[in-house]
Amino acid sequence: MCGIFGYIGDKDPLKTCLAGLEQLEYRGYDSTGIAGIAEGAISTYKEAGKLSLLKQKINLSRLDLAIGHTRWATHGKVTYENAHPHLDSSQSIALVHNGIIENYDSLREELKSRGIPFLSETDSEVIVQLISSHYQGNLVDAVYKTLPLLKGAFAIALIHKDHPDQIVAAARESPLAIAYNDDCTESLISSDQNAFLGTSLNVLFLMGDEIALIQKGAIHIFDQALQPVEKKTERFKNDYKAPSKEGFAHFMRKEISEQPQTIQKAFDGRFTPDFEPIGISLEELKSMRHIWILGCGTSAHAGHIGAMYFEDLVKIPSSCDIASEARYRDPILGPDTLVIALSQSGETADTLAALREAKKQGCRILGICNVQNSTLTRETDGSIFLKAGPEVSVCSTKAFTSQLAVLNLLALHLSHIRGRLSPALAVHYVDKLKQIPSHIQQVLDQAADIERLAQKYAAYEDFFFMGRRYMFPTAQEAALKLKEISYVNANGCPAGELKHGPLALINPSFPVVAFCANIRTQEKILSNLMEVKARGGPILAFAPQGLNAVADVADDVFWLPPTIDELSPFASAIAGQLLAYFIAKERGCDIDQPRNLAKSVTVE
Ligand code: G6P
Repeated sequence: MCGIFGYIGDKDPLKTCLAGLEQLEYRGYDSTGIAGIAEGAISTYKEAGKLSLLKQKINLSRLDLAIGHTRWATHGKVTYENAHPHLDSSQSIALVHNGIIENYDSLREELKSRGIPFLSETDSEVIVQLISSHYQGNLVDAVYKTLPLLKGAFAIALIHKDHPDQIVAAARESPLAIAYNDDCTESLISSDQNAFLGTSLNVLFLMGDEIALIQKGAIHIFDQALQPVEKKTERFKNDYKAPSKEGFAHFMRKEISEQPQTIQKAFDGRFTPDFEPIGISLEELKSMRHIWILGCGTSAHAGHIGAMYFEDLVKIPSSCDIASEARYRDPILGPDTLVIALSQSGETADTLAALREAKKQGCRILGICNVQNSTLTRETDGSIFLKAGPEVSVCSTKAFTSQLAVLNLLALHLSHIRGRLSPALAVHYVDKLKQIPSHIQQVLDQAADIERLAQKYAAYEDFFFMGRRYMFPTAQEAALKLKEISYVNANGCPAGELKHGPLALINPSFPVVAFCANIRTQEKILSNLMEVKARGGPILAFAPQGLNAVADVADDVFWLPPTIDELSPFASAIAGQLLAYFIAKERGCDIDQPRNLAKSVTVE
């Protein structure tokens, strides 16, 4: 999964392309590259590193147009050769690609048997060589002949040295937005329309093997049979402001600190009975008999907690599945299943694929997402926005707690409209919920204590994070934070499951981080702590004030503001985020852009 950007128009194509790629680095930052046409020849510049490196070194003359790419490696290591753009063997065509060509190996062998040499290990180079082999003067025609040979999902953009006035693009399942302005002075392409900065543009999206011929201020789209198609365009204006760390050392630290405010924003206009319209009618919501939540990574952890909210508050059977698994299951769904797709970015390929499967079975789909104009919001029946503001750090923090806030309020709302919410419970619950921003602030105010704990625990290479009930997905999320940015082996584990295997690993160099805030299972987790202590495992506990027995067992305790079980994930999550942040800082890791990861995963 990668970011594609392209520009043809009156502005400097190279500079515009570099600015666009900066917006797309969240999709991958293993390597980056640009190609353009200058004086009738293809000119390329690539780096096996981040865009900042490319910017320092790039030295291209004025280009007629430009296409660029930021890569997250799938096929082939992070090397100069594997960086995009890829050229055909005659150096006439340059191509950038997002997606995966599943049959690349057989295509490559076939091309090699015809004497075509390959320079990279990528599946993408196969596409450019195939297009080149079909090229007879018309680039669109060559792409048209190539697409049926490809299996998989992709978005591509390419240029030919003999056509300095055109970029050709095509897409199957991977998103690709194309835009032009009213006075026909520029056209752009991007994997994400939010990377189109500033101007008012007409935007359309390629899909289903459509091919676009992009010229200055003019776009021509062709369908699978190469017939011209009229696409609906949307007006788009991006009031983008460059994100700033606002004095913090990292975006992650800034985003952690924003959570008292971002949660407040997630609350706005959503306290039942005034829940904003969500695109699915009250009648339909009342008739649902099952809720199925889909997500990946951090969003899946929020989904697991959300499923508990729906069961506890709405009394409706609810479950959460990791989208990459869900898409290949055959769950029993129907029109009475409400599917909730959770995604910070709204672009995660597995989440989108899973919701498309659910759609085929007649389910109503609700998206909960942080990015307006994302693919998710275009494909769901209704949407709720997190309003957390841009989350830049790859490690998701504020989006998680905003997801929890929205899921809480949605559960309360469903409970109310289905006649399950007693006024007394509503008052009690809302009162507790409104305290959450101040609880989070209390944890933030003690960041220095967590930093001291992090310094103590930073040298360990293995951790279990454990919890029960609401604290189990919370522990999983905290473990994910730590492994993502510190490269430490940290795994979330249901505390009761420890004795069924994981306990075998515990020893004085294998600590356990215990999340103890779920009151209903308090005594049980205390027993689990004893089991760890008996095996010499160091224990760091995150426990609610008042649960003093924890201090007798744990080596270190960080005290959290107490609340009801349902709301215990908030303050615990912040503590987990800070612990991961400070351990990563202590270990000197690249916190905002950890190795091997990307903010949005747009391949399967
Ligand atoms: C990537 C990110 C994670 C994120 C996951 C799901 O793996 O690195 O931080 O949780 O994708 O992303 P989504 O945008 O769908 O929430």
